[in-house]
Amino acid sequence: MPDKTIDYDQPVFVAGHAGLAGSAIARRLRGEGFRKVIGVRSAELELRDSDRTWEFMAAHRPQIVVLAAARVGGIAANNAHPADFLSDNLRIQVSVMDAARRLGVPRLLFLGSSCIYPKHAPQPIRESTLLTGPLEQTNEAYAVAKIAGITQVRAVRRQDGLAWISAMPTNLYGPGDNFHPEHSHVLPGLIRRFHEAAESGAASVTVWGSGAPRREFLHADDLAAACTTLLRHYDDDDPINVGTGSDLSIAELASLIAEVTGYRGEIVFDPSRPDGTPRKVLDVSRMTALGWRPTIGLVEGIAATYKWFLDNRETVRG
Ligand SMILES: NC(=O)c1ccc[n+]([C@@H]2O[C@H](COP(=O)([O-])OP(=O)(O)OC[C@H]3O[C@@H](n4cnc5c(N)ncnc54)[C@H](OP(=O)(O)O)[C@@H]3O)[C@@H](O)[C@H]2O)c1
Repeated sequence: MPDKTIDYDQPVFVAGHAGLAGSAIARRLRGEGFRKVIGVRSAELELRDSDRTWEFMAAHRPQIVVLAAARVGGIAANNAHPADFLSDNLRIQVSVMDAARRLGVPRLLFLGSSCIYPKHAPQPIRESTLLTGPLEQTNEAYAVAKIAGITQVRAVRRQDGLAWISAMPTNLYGPGDNFHPEHSHVLPGLIRRFHEAAESGAASVTVWGSGAPRREFLHADDLAAACTTLLRHYDDDDPINVGTGSDLSIAELASLIAEVTGYRGEIVFDPSRPDGTPRKVLDVSRMTALGWRPTIGLVEGIAATYKWFLDNRETVRG
């Protein structure tokens, strides 16, 4: 049922609308009735360029901005390119938020990440643990950029009184994910590797790290539903966690993906590679108190993501 208090003709700019999160959010917004959902590819608009970003946003005058554009990658990419992760993400955020501020955009949702929390934060991780301890080394640069984004949102709220908010999603996956062998996150990366191993009949697949770290995974469509819930109902200084609240080990994840992809060989772990944070699961009680719940189970979600990967083999990222 459309909400009569919402203007479905107001322009909504989803920065990063072609990415994993942004495409799900744009789909969801359109599905909920928003008729002017705007997006632009990086090839047409470089969001690190603040002058061009301003020109674009001033021309479209969005009333809602969802900031889902970022340089994103797994442990390997973060480890290899920390300076790029810091600089690119800071510049994208500042360009978009400064333009939105100049335009007085009343509603902006900034997507951070669960990696902003201290490496040894008590589990499940509550929002209040932000800035209470040292970060995980492997993605420190990316996390600091995201923390700067949260601070910028808070500062604009305080200085300009705009109802901007930040959400911290856990690890995401789903259709449109990045399956690149080096730049992907663990779940799509494993889908690709197990798929290729199944196809070639490989006897073993080596997985980075010990297999022991525990992680949480949320389907991008569930994140998108959370984002529209937040845009309707959340107006607070604090970032809010978005996740399932349950986790599994990387070894368990690898077995699940092997099953879905039909890989029957051995799974070998390489403990000489970094494990990252030992356990990462979010406390999602504030998000669920708003009435949102994840609806896509992990096995169902992985199967759907694998199907998408197979159906889009020619154009898939990576
Ligand atoms: N994936 C996860 O597991 C995860 C977990 C927690 C939080 N998040 C957060 O969710 C947000 C989106 O992540 P994602 O996984 O959807 O990433 P993604 O699939 O890589 O999408 C990011 C999008 O950002 C755009 N972009 C990147 N650099 C740009 C630039 N310089 N100028 C213009 N556009 C640029 C890209 O546009 P083009 O495609 O046009 O190049 C891309 O579509 C990020 O803020 C990320 O931190 C992601």
